[in-house]
Amino acid sequence: MSQTMGDIQPQETFCQPPEPILSDRVKDNLQPSKLGDLRAYCYYKQYDPKTKPDGIVALAIAENKLMRDEITKHINDNFQITPWHLTYGEGPVGTAALRKELTSYVNDAFKPYIPVKDDHFCMCNGAGNAVHNLAFCVGEPGDGILLSKPLYTGFFSDLEAGAKIKVVQVPMGGVDPVSPRAADKFEEALLESERAGTRIRAILIPNPHNPLGRPYDEKALIPFLRLCSKYNIHLISDEVYAQSWFPSDDFQELPPFKSILSLDLKEHINPALVHVIYAMSKDFCANGIRIGCLISPFNPDMISAFKSITGFTRPSQLAEEVWLNLLKDKRYLESYFPELRERMADSYAYTTRRLREYDIPYSAASFSPCVWIDLSRYLDDDSEEAELALAWRLVKAKVWLAMGAIFGSEKHGNYRITFATPRQELALGLDRMFEVLDGIRKP
Ligand SMILES: Cc1ncc(COP(=O)(O)O)c(C=O)c1O
Repeated sequence: MSQTMGDIQPQETFCQPPEPILSDRVKDNLQPSKLGDLRAYCYYKQYDPKTKPDGIVALAIAENKLMRDEITKHINDNFQITPWHLTYGEGPVGTAALRKELTSYVNDAFKPYIPVKDDHFCMCNGAGNAVHNLAFCVGEPGDGILLSKPLYTGFFSDLEAGAKIKVVQVPMGGVDPVSPRAADKFEEALLESERAGTRIRAILIPNPHNPLGRPYDEKALIPFLRLCSKYNIHLISDEVYAQSWFPSDDFQELPPFKSILSLDLKEHINPALVHVIYAMSKDFCANGIRIGCLISPFNPDMISAFKSITGFTRPSQLAEEVWLNLLKDKRYLESYFPELRERMADSYAYTTRRLREYDIPYSAASFSPCVWIDLSRYLDDDSEEAELALAWRLVKAKVWLAMGAIFGSEKHGNYRITFATPRQELALGLDRMFEVLDGIRKP
């Protein structure tokens, strides 16, 4: 043994790894990206009133920060780690107690046409991981899933990084993505994609929509069901913002949330093709806890398939316990959601009033913590480079907005602002943004 050890070369010779050391699969994920650089620059420099007062105000991440103190208090008041939490518990599918509470919560909030049961759920560590796992279950590497532009940017890595399913972006050409005509655009894209050799396995819709902050109504959902039925493909409805609605002065009548499960699916499609994703992250202001689930009420094979890989993305016992404690505290939730909505409404009204003062167009929203704005008149020219340059200019002035290009926006100059941010931080971020815009030109 010692002789063999003696044969080992000095440490330095190991510094240059031989090629190829990484799989081609993962090398794809390492492509440098100018858009990714901005995010990497900002991540570790984020503003915090106590620990980093001179940091960058992050209005780029879909993180609802308005009820963080209340959720933190609920967790601390109700949670104590026990030796049980140090075990594998009841396995990766999730504890029976959590799935039972989720069943009652979903039946109440999503109003499914046929009530869901606890064996229709499989847990995982967040909605993004549910998308990743489902992608793995519905297609082969190189197959595609259709999503309309603009799309939540995380879907790119959720679908492509592991399962290697292509995001096939559907240009909407002015058609509202949450309108009944949207499905026609999807059909055009499906045919085009299949002609080009990419087999389409599913349509993924975020309902309510991120980044537009509006829900799909029944008239918009039914054409998607029929389209998926026609081509025998899955419909995945990501409903993480189901409860994140707020009274918005931009709507005379608030558009209600309509879960895909609330429709009589069998009138339009084989229900086994329909799946829903939900998570704690958004409605409970807790992105960092990392827990979510698949709900697939009519497809036990899909639940089994998802289960077969969910061990790699299971939530911790601690996360399960935290969500369970909240879900079963129905009295707490009765006051939590109205308070969340009141704060969101107030923050949205404040943000949009300031946008209107500057004549900045925005897409009226009544769901999600974000608002989609149009700063195109502040770009040097109509290009992605100009959009990126403005994003950097804002970041150098210490405010970070999510730029439209990362959402596949069809127009240059869109940005997304997370208005569900504590007032002092939000005001500081907007002040910094307007100062930069003032310095560019007064159109
Ligand atoms: C539509 C949508 N789905 C999924 C996610 C990711 O959620 P999670 O943090 O639970 O993985 C986000 C986060 O912004 C989102 O907006």
